[in-house]
Amino acid sequence: SDAEMLYARCKGCHGADGSKPQDGHVIQGMSVEQLEETLLGYKNGTYGGKKKAIMMGQMSRLSEAQIKSLAAYIAEF
Ligand code: HEM
Repeated sequence: SDAEMLYARCKGCHGADGSKPQDGHVIQGMSVEQLEETLLGYKNGTYGGKKKAIMMGQMSRLSEAQIKSLAAYIAEF
């Protein structure tokens, strides 16, 4: 799927199943609402911890529709 291809660039840091911690954050088990809120927040500059620059760079290249599709995909892990 489109989301599966988009997730390829996240795997190295978050793990194939989202279980690999990144600075204390584990994305496996997050709800679709939490995923959309955090990912869109990185894109819009309204969310993030001390390593947010990494995620802002990741999200700046994606459309809102692509981010929502990624959120739905990750919520199924
Ligand atoms: C945080 C997803 C790519 C490193 C997060 C969070 C999500 C996420 C949902 C928020 C977790 C939370 O606040 O509980 C993704 C997705 C990616 C991606 C969908 C691909 C499109 C990457 C890559 C790296 C990375 C490539 C490493 C180079 C981090 C770090 C944080 C984080 C360090 C914590 C940032 C902070 O301090 O706010 N990621 N990620 N992520 N991710 Fe990613």
